[in-house]
Amino acid sequence: ETATKEGYPHFMIKEIHESPKAVKDTIEGFISEIDLIKEVADEIKNANRIIVIGAGTSYHAGLYFSLQLQRLGYTSIPIIASEYYNLKAKKGDIALAISQSGETIDVLQGIRKMKNEGAKIISLTNVIESAIARESDYKLYMKAGPEIGVAATKTFTTQLASLLFLTEVLQGGNINKLEKLHQEIRDTITKVEGITKRIGEKLSKKANIYYLGRGLSLPLAMEGALKIKEIAYVHAEAYPAGESKHGPISLVEKGFPVVIINDGELTDLLQNNLMEMKARGAEIYTVSVNKKMKDSDIEIYLESEFPAIVISPVIQLIAYYASVSKGYDPDKPRNLAKTVTVE
Ligand code: G6P
Repeated sequence: ETATKEGYPHFMIKEIHESPKAVKDTIEGFISEIDLIKEVADEIKNANRIIVIGAGTSYHAGLYFSLQLQRLGYTSIPIIASEYYNLKAKKGDIALAISQSGETIDVLQGIRKMKNEGAKIISLTNVIESAIARESDYKLYMKAGPEIGVAATKTFTTQLASLLFLTEVLQGGNINKLEKLHQEIRDTITKVEGITKRIGEKLSKKANIYYLGRGLSLPLAMEGALKIKEIAYVHAEAYPAGESKHGPISLVEKGFPVVIINDGELTDLLQNNLMEMKARGAEIYTVSVNKKMKDSDIEIYLESEFPAIVISPVIQLIAYYASVSKGYDPDKPRNLAKTVTVE
C-alpha cells in the first residue's frame, strides 16, 4: 500500500478534501472526450428505457440520475444491483452501470443478464478496464484517483458531477458552467468543517436518526443515512419527507434527531414536514441550498446552481465527525469491504 495520509488523520478526511481535484480532473476528462459523451447522450435519447444500476453509494448516485432522467421525460428505472433479477431488459433498452471499483459482483451479474436480454451497456467507473468497464459497450471513466477509505466519499461527489455533465449534454446545456464545480466544493468544505463537526458530535450520541428529503434531495438523504450508519454505527433511516407521516413519525419524541436535506426546490413542503417533526419534540438539523428553512436547531446554508454537489461533502463530513468523536476508525468500518465480489 503506497498511499499515505499526507498529514490527515484518516484517508476518509483526506479523500473528502481531494473531492475538488477529483471533480476537476473528471470534468476536464469529459470535456476532452466530448464526442464519446455525446454518443452516450444520443444512446440515452434513443433508448426505450434507461436502466440505472449500482450498489451502495453508487446506487444513490444512480437513483439521483434516474430521477433527473424521469424529470426530463425519459423512462428510467433505477435498480439496486443485488436485486437485478427482477428486471427483464429488452432490445432497445440501455443500462448505465455505476461502480467506483468497476468490480462489484452484483452490478456485473446485472449487466451480464441485461446484455444477454439485448440491452446496450454504458459504464461509469473509476478504474480503467475494470471488469464492468470491459463488459460495456461505452466506457466512461472518472478521474477521482484511488479511494482507500471503505466508505465512498470523493467518488460519490465525482459520480454526481459526471452525471450532471451528462444531464447538461442531454439537454444541450452549457457544460462550461461545470468547470466551477470544484471551486464550490472547496469553498463548501472550508465553510462547513466546524459546523459539521458540531452536528456529527451531537448525532454520534443518538441511537436513531431520520434523514428526510424530497425530490432530488431524497437520494442525498439516503446517502447521508448510509454514511453515518456505515462508519459511526448509528442507526439512521432515510425517508421521503412527505411519506414520514405514514409511519416513521410515530417514533419521534423529544430529542429525536431529524436531518432534513433541502436542495432548494421543495422548501415549503419540507418546511411543513419540519414543523410536524418539531411539534413532537424532534431536534432538527437542516442542510439547505439556495432557500433557508426556519426553526431548525442547527442549519447549514449553502448556495449553488448544483445543490447535490455541495450537499455531498456536507453529509460525508457529518458522518466522519460522528465516527471520530466516538473513537472509531472511519477508514475501516467493521464488517464492510471496499469492494464486494461475492453475491
Ligand atoms: C461497498 C463499499 C461501498 C460502495 C459499494 C459499491 O459496499 O463499502 O462504499 O458504495 O461497495 O461499490 P462500487 O465500487 O460498485 O461503487
